[in-house]
Amino acid sequence: MSNDNERLWDGRFAEATDAFVEAFTASVSFDQQLAQFDIEGSIAHATMLGRCGIIAEDTATAIVDGLRGIGADIAAGNFVWSQHLEDVHMNIEAALTDRIGEQGKALHTGRSRNDQVATDVRMYLRHHVDQILSQVTHLQQGLLQLASQHVHTIMPGFTHLQVAQPVVFGHHLMAWYEMLSRDKERLVDCRKRVNVLPLGAAALAGTSFPIDRLLVAELLHFDRVAENSLDAVSDRDFAIEFSSAASLIMMHLSRWSEELILWASPQFGFVNLPDRYCTGSSIMPQKKNPDVPELVRGKSARVFGGLITLLTLMKGQPLAYNKDNQEDKEPLIDIIRTLEDTLTAFGDMIPNIEANPEAMRSAAAKGFATATDLADYLVRKGCAFRDAHHRVGRLVALAESRKVDLSELSLEDFQRESPEIESDVYQSLTLEGSVAARNHLGGTAPETVQAAIERAQRQSP
Ligand code: ARG
Repeated sequence: MSNDNERLWDGRFAEATDAFVEAFTASVSFDQQLAQFDIEGSIAHATMLGRCGIIAEDTATAIVDGLRGIGADIAAGNFVWSQHLEDVHMNIEAALTDRIGEQGKALHTGRSRNDQVATDVRMYLRHHVDQILSQVTHLQQGLLQLASQHVHTIMPGFTHLQVAQPVVFGHHLMAWYEMLSRDKERLVDCRKRVNVLPLGAAALAGTSFPIDRLLVAELLHFDRVAENSLDAVSDRDFAIEFSSAASLIMMHLSRWSEELILWASPQFGFVNLPDRYCTGSSIMPQKKNPDVPELVRGKSARVFGGLITLLTLMKGQPLAYNKDNQEDKEPLIDIIRTLEDTLTAFGDMIPNIEANPEAMRSAAAKGFATATDLADYLVRKGCAFRDAHHRVGRLVALAESRKVDLSELSLEDFQRESPEIESDVYQSLTLEGSVAARNHLGGTAPETVQAAIERAQRQSP
């Protein structure tokens, strides 16, 4: 650089920036993560300027070559970032002029950092949305793999965390699968609004040069160009929308985590988490703690926090660009890293969960889980459901007083309460009979769950 203290915008300033203010306003420590996208965006912009005759073709070529060289240096870790140059954009532009000389100064023609940063953030986010989509798909495949091993594994289904009715474990896992399918739909939908090109809006009002925005959109694989320059530079609702989709994924994974933590406890004993996903205690030698699910449950909090940060960041901003927007990057980067790390952990852990069918079965057998089946049986014998419910309630009380299960009551016990009960009642009281009876679309019968798994396998990319 010709003069180390020169800044790209300091023509109108009479004194140097205060050292603290320089540090306070700089963003390069975090926005350098956008470098690859900043370079791609600049290459497309320079190419367009050359093709439209706004800058000389040989200047455009020199700029593109220079930017590629800088991109390679950054990728190789050979680039020195300077806080004095404030942000990723000015670091790269200054390096370009250092590298190729005067021609580098033409790059910023017809452009502002305002439309540049909005473009960079959208490209960065688009890249990560695609990454997250493939991670979610991978996790779904892991779920399908585990679910298909447990189509006949009976466990208690819960409401209010009390044993409610028997279900098969595969059905429970497919409930998780459904959550992820909706999460994917939200990401795909949000991507449409992420993939809109702001470049060309310049600072806020557009530019006096005869630019070709459609060409830039095509070079950078954007679906559309932003229709209004003021909106293009200032809006960050696409990032908020993504963060809300990310929050919903973390909320889902946090719920799964809570279940895994409960199930892995000795009191439930339904599952064993792989040792490599757990840690021990420094004092209690017997402990195997489910750290990964616990941490995921905790990390959901910081993703929700990022969403609230972004919403709050936007809500008071008048049009168009304000420096407030520089604060969008850290939460967004943190949300993405947290979500990707979580999906990496779950993608490996889920298919390696070891179920304990005996513990699941005995928990289901203990909680009068087939009481609804007995009421349904009475309805089939001509009793109104509300009366059937009452009689079964009395039979449950009887069984409870004797500390036995419903299936251990004698036929005489049943008939004393309800004369229409016959010996075929015992069939309705079995766990297998209970799940098998729920064989309509969406039910927990093994054949239905098997069909749901096969349907998902066919749809899965
Ligand atoms: N670092 C800034 C940001 O992240 C880049 C845009 C700055 N524009 C400006 N006019 N100061 O938003």
